[in-house]
Amino acid sequence: MIRGGKPLNGMVTISGAKNSAIALLPAAVLADTEVILDNLPNISDVAIYSELLEELGAKVTRRDDEIRIDPSQLVSKPMPNGRVKKLRASYYLMGALLGRFGEATIGMPGGCNFEPRPIDQHIKGFEALGAVVTNEQGSLHIKAEKLRGAKIYLDVVSVGATINIMLAASRAEGVTLIENAAKEPEIVDVATLLTAMGAKIKGAGTETIRIEGVKQMKGCRHSIISDRIQAGTYMIMAAATRGNVLVDNVIPKHLEALTAKLEEMGVEVQEYDEAIRIIGKPTYSAVDVKALVYPGFPTDLQSPMTSLLACAEGTSLLTDYVYGTRFKHVPELTLMGANIRVEGRTAIIEGGKFSAAKVKAADLRAGAALVVAALTVQNEVTEITNVEYIDRGYDRLVENLRNLGADVWREIS
Ligand code: EPU
Repeated sequence: MIRGGKPLNGMVTISGAKNSAIALLPAAVLADTEVILDNLPNISDVAIYSELLEELGAKVTRRDDEIRIDPSQLVSKPMPNGRVKKLRASYYLMGALLGRFGEATIGMPGGCNFEPRPIDQHIKGFEALGAVVTNEQGSLHIKAEKLRGAKIYLDVVSVGATINIMLAASRAEGVTLIENAAKEPEIVDVATLLTAMGAKIKGAGTETIRIEGVKQMKGCRHSIISDRIQAGTYMIMAAATRGNVLVDNVIPKHLEALTAKLEEMGVEVQEYDEAIRIIGKPTYSAVDVKALVYPGFPTDLQSPMTSLLACAEGTSLLTDYVYGTRFKHVPELTLMGANIRVEGRTAIIEGGKFSAAKVKAADLRAGAALVVAALTVQNEVTEITNVEYIDRGYDRLVENLRNLGADVWREIS
């Protein structure tokens, strides 16, 4: 429940990144001894992933923002259903278990289903490494007598496929080259952990990644990078409410595409070493945004950005080149009075004002878009349901917003 109209003011500290954490947790499977991750985000996707690892036999202990995973007793048992269906990133267990045990049976992943999300490039990678992949009643059975390094060209730039191949290739015999690899900061974070565990990886963050497989990997301590998407969402919220917010514990370079667009709209952005200050202005200009793979504008911020553009003056075009139909937030924003039309992979957004309504989060970022919109509505209460989607990726959202002066509360039905 959000009673909007209050400019956000103060400081928010950003947690570790969801899309790193849910790759680093399964990466721990590859080690023989304990892996410790800190700066762990307090989100439901992490909780579910921890339970998945426990189901496989890992010993998991969590304290505050630190998690310890002891994978020494872990086995590769089939995981056709249950928790794997709740998460998209359960697909990383395919690469991790394949790397460690040469075999994995994992149900097809769930998660935010804003459009069909194929995993053909993951499978292509596993097969190139020598695995045989069969579909057994909706689960993928992946088995390799011996994993051997290979040259793999990704037909589409995929974060998930890049990481999954890195996981399996770390324990393959010989050298793997991933070409047309994704360059997202989360890929670099996973490579950093794998390297600390003993893998030999070069080129993470560029389009060619070279992985020399090793026979054994060990535990280590690793600090998860900060969440650029949570940070970006707070930047957008600060701008939309005409607030003044210091977004702390961020890597400003990871947010350059957003920063550039905010400045183009007329928002004042001040960058520090590990923080960004957003100073809102009374009016904003319409701008065009193209969501692309990193370092382009992130698709995960296009939904919250839609809400900000709906408060600008004039017509903005927002095109998503990563997910062509990721617009489940649009009908709900329309219920709140926005004037948005979707044509193909482009949303045409006429600037105006939001009004309060009862709306439903259709997925994680669609939910964030509704929060941005609701925060702008003067003195009226917006009710957002299905907030469990938002809990998947935003650490302590209600608490953070309240600290910034917003009138937000949770009603348990
Ligand atoms: N694709 C294929 N085949 C594949 C894999 C991907 O065609 O085998 C296509 C997808 O359909 C999409 C594009 O390639 O059009 C990019 O997909 P990618 O594989 O990069 O996405 P992902 O790894 O499944 C991760 C994040 C998403 C984020 C995307 C893009 C995780 C668990 N998820 O998904 O995060 O949108 O990268 O940056 O890391 C979110 O946080 O809200 C979220 C959905």
